[in-house]
Amino acid sequence: MNELQNRFESRGQGQVFQFFHELSSAEQEQLSAQAADIDLDELDRLVDSLVKGKVEGNDSIADELSPADFTPLPANGGDAALWTEAKETGEEALRAGRVAAFTVAGGQGTRLGYDGPKGTFPVTPVLKKTLFQVFAEKILAAGNHYGKSIPWFLMTSISNHEATVSFFRENNFFGLKEEDVSFFSQGLMPAVDSEGKILLDEKGSIALSPDGHGGSLRALVRSGAISKMEERGIDIVSYFQVDNPLVRCLDPEFIGFHILRNSELSSKALPKAYPEEKVGVFCEQNGQAVVVEYSDLPERLSQERDDAGELTFRGGSIAIHLFDRDFVKKLGSGDSEETRLPFHKANKKVPFVDTDGQRNEPAEPNACKFEMFVFDALPFAKNPVIIETGRADDFSPVKNAEGVDSPATSKDDQLRQFARWAVAAGIEIETDETGLPSITFEISPVFADTCERFVEKWQALNTKPPLTDGLVLS
Ligand code: UD1
Repeated sequence: MNELQNRFESRGQGQVFQFFHELSSAEQEQLSAQAADIDLDELDRLVDSLVKGKVEGNDSIADELSPADFTPLPANGGDAALWTEAKETGEEALRAGRVAAFTVAGGQGTRLGYDGPKGTFPVTPVLKKTLFQVFAEKILAAGNHYGKSIPWFLMTSISNHEATVSFFRENNFFGLKEEDVSFFSQGLMPAVDSEGKILLDEKGSIALSPDGHGGSLRALVRSGAISKMEERGIDIVSYFQVDNPLVRCLDPEFIGFHILRNSELSSKALPKAYPEEKVGVFCEQNGQAVVVEYSDLPERLSQERDDAGELTFRGGSIAIHLFDRDFVKKLGSGDSEETRLPFHKANKKVPFVDTDGQRNEPAEPNACKFEMFVFDALPFAKNPVIIETGRADDFSPVKNAEGVDSPATSKDDQLRQFARWAVAAGIEIETDETGLPSITFEISPVFADTCERFVEKWQALNTKPPLTDGLVLS
């Protein structure tokens, strides 16, 4: 037995190497490499606390929670002068090249029923541009506007890394400079059974799965992305998810608030549309800001209303954040317990090889997977900022094949945004009462990526094309 096998044996995980003698040398190498990557101290801690430990019920947290405050939009009572100051500050930071875009794209589009990296899913109304292309063009447009190219970092996972990188290559990085786009794969965690034993997916392979978007902080450090940012003088990381084509990837007002308040982690809050909306909620717990995931917020609290009839816990987290670079470095290095993101456990069906060497496809959850959530960084952050945002211009994700948050709802929300911009430019356009135009058209981010810039660009056009079905302004 070699040193690695001994180590696993002594920690009660010897089953990982049970079939080692039957494997080819390539398989032995693969298994050893996977095992060597597992932090057994970390795993022991997780098994003790999350698998064997007592997990408290939801209601136990209810008494400790109050809703977190957020800075309201000017339209909802916020200080307009402050928002203007924030915008100017953010624009200055963008012109100085202090900001990088960062997308977490490691998840599988399971709910969407889409086979392939989710970023390659087509979303725009006419050209059916993919999510990746929409973000790329927004980043390109912002770089052109501020006169400084903006680097873009993308986190993939082992199952979609190659396909993601190939997709960008095949599409010439959508006009971005290749050296401005960096990809890195997120970390993996082993799945364990109810006794905390690591499961084998094959005789020569451990059952591994991505460590959650919270793993992005350590992946940013491990991959060298943080050092790259440091070299380029970037100190603000603009974080967004892969599923939301309306996101303002680089929002000067948001960036400005982050800088003005000297924040280590800033977030956008969106008033929830209805109590059951599947978004995390900004709360306060023991004097600290936290996000409580929708599945963990007790129903009594998610339904509670204030005297004005508004949801008490209404600050929805739409997973748009700004991270201070050094804060990522501190949390991502995970050196001490005070700066370590917690793991969450999910009970899942995980195929496994049993002690007789038979592969089983369980019908019921048989295993625990471990994931970190990026919003758990919030209580660690100094001066956390939470600002309100409007749904119409920041959030319409593609999550489900049908119904809410689907390709159909997201396409309509994009159309509504294009129609609002057209109206602002004085174009006559027919819409229904929800603002949905009667024609399908598209404004490319390269033509204009904000209402303000659309109005300018449109007015400067010598010949203005008639706004007809299928028109693409690019
Ligand atoms: C998520 C948030 C929720 C928020 C909502 C807004 C969690 C647990 N919940 O819900 O609070 O209100 O989005 O849309 O995240 N990802 C990785 N690696 C992973 C797992 C996920 O990169 O290991 C990425 C996905 O590619 C995606 C994002 O993280 O970009 C969100 O993941 P998803 O599982 O779809 O979260 P939601 O349940 O939609």
